[in-house]
Amino acid sequence: MKIPSDKQVLVTSALPYVNGNCHIGHLRTYVPADIYVRMYRKMGYVVTFVCGSDTHGTPIVLTAEAEGVTPQVVVARYHKHFKEIFKELQVDFDYYGQTDSETNHRRTEEIVTRLIENGYVYEQVINQAFCSSCERFLPDRYVEGRCPYCGELARGDECDQGCGKHLEPGEMIEPKCKICGSEAEFRNQEQFFFKLSSFTDFLISYLDTMGGTQNAKNYAMEWVKKELKDWCITRNLGWGVRFPGRDDLVVYVWVDAPIGYISFTEELFRDRAKGKGKLGEDGQEWRRYWKEDKAAIVHFIGTDILYHHCIFWPAMLKGAEYSLPAAVVASGMVKIDGRTFSKSRGDVVWVTEFLERFHPDTLRYYLVTQSSHTKELNFSWESFAMRLNNELVAILGNLVYRLLSFAYKNFGTIPDGSIEEEILIAITKTKEESISAIEEYEFKKFVDAVMKLADFGNSYFQREEPWHLIKQGDRDRKRAGEISLNVLQLIKAICILLEAVMPAKMEEVWQQLGMERDLHSVQLDELLVPVESGKALKKPYRLFERVEAEIIEELS
Ligand code: 2FM
Ligand code: ZN
Repeated sequence: MKIPSDKQVLVTSALPYVNGNCHIGHLRTYVPADIYVRMYRKMGYVVTFVCGSDTHGTPIVLTAEAEGVTPQVVVARYHKHFKEIFKELQVDFDYYGQTDSETNHRRTEEIVTRLIENGYVYEQVINQAFCSSCERFLPDRYVEGRCPYCGELARGDECDQGCGKHLEPGEMIEPKCKICGSEAEFRNQEQFFFKLSSFTDFLISYLDTMGGTQNAKNYAMEWVKKELKDWCITRNLGWGVRFPGRDDLVVYVWVDAPIGYISFTEELFRDRAKGKGKLGEDGQEWRRYWKEDKAAIVHFIGTDILYHHCIFWPAMLKGAEYSLPAAVVASGMVKIDGRTFSKSRGDVVWVTEFLERFHPDTLRYYLVTQSSHTKELNFSWESFAMRLNNELVAILGNLVYRLLSFAYKNFGTIPDGSIEEEILIAITKTKEESISAIEEYEFKKFVDAVMKLADFGNSYFQREEPWHLIKQGDRDRKRAGEISLNVLQLIKAICILLEAVMPAKMEEVWQQLGMERDLHSVQLDELLVPVESGKALKKPYRLFERVEAEIIEELS
């Protein structure tokens, strides 16, 4: 999707439940979102990037109960953990909040109240799973059983092992209590429903113009065209945002979680206004994004939460009179050696474990090049090693180290000369391919295009054989300098582009090139600006280390 150049961009990334550690499956959403943000900034857009911890809902309450602590303790622990991981991975949010903040409580209450006032909420008595030995209702993940649609094992609010459908309270077959394992019964209970069914026509026309990946649009359209059921938006839980006027009910976590996107925007601009010592009007800038359609809102999510983002969320926003998302970008799920993630079976790769051995940038690179964004990504240590050895070491690392060593040894500074036509053409083409790939959320295509430029750099250097020329007379030496200058120009361009993917490693290359400006703020306009002759080069060192077969065997 092409975003009009006068629009600001608000990018969000799905909020992680903070009930456990970060695994590489999580990063499949955050890393591409971060790359997208960095690239749009390089393209000259004003971009705001928000995210935060999803602190409510049964995943957290269950973990807390199992540990015998309060939900706050669990939230605090994993909120900190996720923040640390994002910092190490340089997933650089402008704001990272949490959904139990006062702002989010207030905003959720305001939106739910608005939905009630606008006539979109009604009360109904429903049959709900109840555990008589625990003497409690069993919301969402408190209950397990079989999916009424496909018969697979499922948890209370979603068929996570089978068809992936969202399940409403009381829909599950053969429900069992997750706490004590006994068979649950059904009991009547009063809940509140959101009239999702009355948004069918709206959603059909909205989805038609919604940008983002094709998978998001297609799935959502199918669901809307089949039939939308009204949505139960309350739960009997102590932890969450109170449903207005009812002390015994909280809103379903999928109500207050996406509202977090709005609240974090509010909190970000409030903090910025405070920082400038200006409150009042300035703190209201979030309204431009969420009330006044001044920005393109782009949500990055995983395909498992498409229903929530393409159906529930736009209907809620419409019903409460807020701006609608311009695009929903859905990444395919991550598997480990062909198997679905499972903590209990050990089919999981924790990010902290990965980082004990490898540089964070190598993970960023792998996650976007191993498969295209909407496809499933099958992680294996072997495929990781192949990308690292055959691409990062053999193509990119080789180009940078070989050329810089040559130039540093023979000239010490960036040599004189002019940039050849074929180099300018190659850079221009890569720039165009990169922009259109990013606009289409084709992160793999983007990186592949830049790596092709690196490959071209290697062939050019090899073809021109400057190491022979350097030994000849002055004229040939000058030509060797000019060849180096041209490759340096390619490296500069690669550096600017790949900063979006490997910010730390490209910063190192930038330093080796002797550049002084902050690489992170350099824009795409500079790709063709000639490198400055006469500038001192730094002593180069190798960027990436090969990973040997024994290590891979040990890890697999
Ligand atoms: O599925 C999940 O992990 C949710 N915590 C995602 C929430 S995204 C947003 F809508 F808040
Ligand atoms: Zn199912």
